[in-house]
Amino acid sequence: MKHQASVLVLAASVLAATTAGAQKSEGLALTPPMGWNSWNHIGCEVNEAVVRETADAMVASGMRDVGYVYLNIDDCWHGERDADGFIRPDPERFPSGMKALADYVHSKGLRLGLYSDAGWTTCGGRPGSRGFEFQDALSYARWGIDYLKYDWCATDGLKAEGAYRTMGRALVAAGRPIVLSICEWGDNRPWEWGKEIGHLWRTTGDIAPCWDCEVDHGDWSSWGVMRILDMQEGLRVHAGPDHWNDPDMMEVGNGMTVNEDRAHFSMWAMLAAPLIAGNDLRTMSEATREILANREVITVDQDALGIQGFRYARQGELEIWFRPLADEDWAICILNRGTAPLPVELVWQDETVVDELSGRQTLFKARLYRVRDLWTGEDLGTTRETLTAEVPGHDVLMVRLIRLLEPED
Ligand code: GLA
Repeated sequence: MKHQASVLVLAASVLAATTAGAQKSEGLALTPPMGWNSWNHIGCEVNEAVVRETADAMVASGMRDVGYVYLNIDDCWHGERDADGFIRPDPERFPSGMKALADYVHSKGLRLGLYSDAGWTTCGGRPGSRGFEFQDALSYARWGIDYLKYDWCATDGLKAEGAYRTMGRALVAAGRPIVLSICEWGDNRPWEWGKEIGHLWRTTGDIAPCWDCEVDHGDWSSWGVMRILDMQEGLRVHAGPDHWNDPDMMEVGNGMTVNEDRAHFSMWAMLAAPLIAGNDLRTMSEATREILANREVITVDQDALGIQGFRYARQGELEIWFRPLADEDWAICILNRGTAPLPVELVWQDETVVDELSGRQTLFKARLYRVRDLWTGEDLGTTRETLTAEVPGHDVLMVRLIRLLEPED
């Protein structure tokens, strides 16, 4: 009996500590979150049939089994608040309610995410969580929600850090582990305060399915993949396990060429970005599926060291990116930003790569690595030989350097 009582006291004090002080549920995103989100392809037309079919497709396509577990409903799921202020899903689009949908998604071995906004309305004009943060968090917890993307429209007069802190506390108080995805587009330098509050933060405005374009929407723009990539400059020092830079959800399968999609996916893996697919998983082509489900590239993204990659060199349209990995391995991505194919000749022994952030060095003269092409699965020899290749336009050559403990002859 006595033993039982002390366990109870312990449980109560742990609970009190969680609700009073903790800013976020720790450890929910030790590697960048992976999943799918409705916005990029479906926009406001999301409904429960789409969600169920997407859950089925995530299983049937093998996406779940390579790590895509979050199924996130973005803007426009909301209906009205009830007389007591509780948010309800749109009754026509979600007639079975969120609890039933979460049960279905969970039964497939997946997790369900929702979207809300720190302001009075969402970007799509639905009810925001301003003034209802704790009540909304409670609803999400009761429904069995696992992930919240929290947006920044209609927030005039609000301060971002405080507003996100309020929702972070509300989620913790609701008592269910829920990933918090901070989405204020990098406007308030979330990398400087987001780590204590959320698990990832958007670093930029919205992505668009194009290589290097700016899409002008009047008072805001969305950006092609290369534009978003360039906006990550200087941010790698802020990311790590449980607190990631988020260069936005992916546009793979949304209209770019296969080469561009492959480059986009590779660079997101180099950035240790959350891998949130934004295409229609129910109808995707085999070429798209093969990109999104490439286990070896995913393994780079999900590397346990959690160190974001960096641009090591740039020559004309070619860029060479390095990312240190666990077990003394490295990922290398040679990106061709131009349209013409370009030859590459890399004498490993001539390169000195030192990463101050991780304290890692390649030490090519002292160490030997096997070179593996992550898109073809081909063995490209070792770092004792010269790497000779041609990188097609708007494409990459992505390799993993696998450290060999005993030099090969
Ligand atoms: C903002 C976000 C997008 C998406 C839309 C929904 O633009 O940045 O990712 O959530 O709102 O309205």
